[in-house]
Amino acid sequence: MHSQTMESTVEAILAPGKGILAADESFPTIEKRFKALDIPATEETRGAYREMLFTAPDLNEFISGVILFDETLRAKTRDGTPIPEYLNRQGIIPGIKVDKGTSPLPNFENEKMTLGLDGLRERLAEYRALGARFTKWRVTFSISDSTPSPTCIETNAHSLALFAALCQEAGLVPIVEPEILMEGDHSIGRTEEVALHVLKNVFDQLAAHRVVLEHILLKPAMITPGSKCPDQSRLEIIAATTRRCLRRTVPAAVPGIVFLSGGQSDELATQRLAAICHASNVPWRISFSFGRALQTGALQTWKGSAENIITAQNALRQSAKNNSEAILGKVS
Ligand code: 13P
Repeated sequence: MHSQTMESTVEAILAPGKGILAADESFPTIEKRFKALDIPATEETRGAYREMLFTAPDLNEFISGVILFDETLRAKTRDGTPIPEYLNRQGIIPGIKVDKGTSPLPNFENEKMTLGLDGLRERLAEYRALGARFTKWRVTFSISDSTPSPTCIETNAHSLALFAALCQEAGLVPIVEPEILMEGDHSIGRTEEVALHVLKNVFDQLAAHRVVLEHILLKPAMITPGSKCPDQSRLEIIAATTRRCLRRTVPAAVPGIVFLSGGQSDELATQRLAAICHASNVPWRISFSFGRALQTGALQTWKGSAENIITAQNALRQSAKNNSEAILGKVS
């Protein structure tokens, strides 16, 4: 019923040279980011920060969609325009994080499940009425000798599939985000092994729930060594491993893969994205859906002060432009 709507949402998000700005930090996450810079986290400061981001001049040259948090989808700019309407006027599609964060998986030490399926159908109807056109659900996996366990993989793959099916029922394009966390001293080979297993399970569950693959986007982490692994692989190895792993698991029917940045520095995230896009032997379009790798420079420049707005917006636009050039193959 909503097929055409979802198709045009996917096409608009994957417009050449454009990616997604993830600005959907939950209350605890934005508080952590603000605290590091001594910025108090209040409704007012969060609103001012996000308005600074979204009103960056010409952001729409490089950004096709923004993922919002519940509070921001309901917020207005200082001149009274609802945020989703403001974004739409710039040709930027508003999206919304709909999971309610992670929680310990009972009986499985250091493993997480994602909450938020209860009442999701009703929330999706409200989000759609508020102007959202796509959604995000994030599950996480930590790598250790004994994790992720098969139970953790199955539980999270199942929640992703139910989320995706409910979103498509509501005409919203789901961004399926199975994030394999970088923390640890494991090798890139171990990350690839885990990612193969996780992605296989995710696509099995999506098929079991009859999710239309043409109307989803996949948001994975790049396949990298653990952040404490002594052997930090070369760019070409990360790029080739990431492409191989995704080619082996992600059906060609999926229109696009939008990478998360996952705590890599801005520079590394952009360089690796460029290296992944360098070869054309993949069937999907590749882009970015970065949070930190787009926002860090802007946040550190803004520092909570109105007088820094223009320089902070310049920093955001520069990051967005760098990543746009990376996916267009303009970075060597
Ligand atoms: P990072 O790019 O900072 O990992 O954030 C992307 C995101 O949306 C995580 O859910």
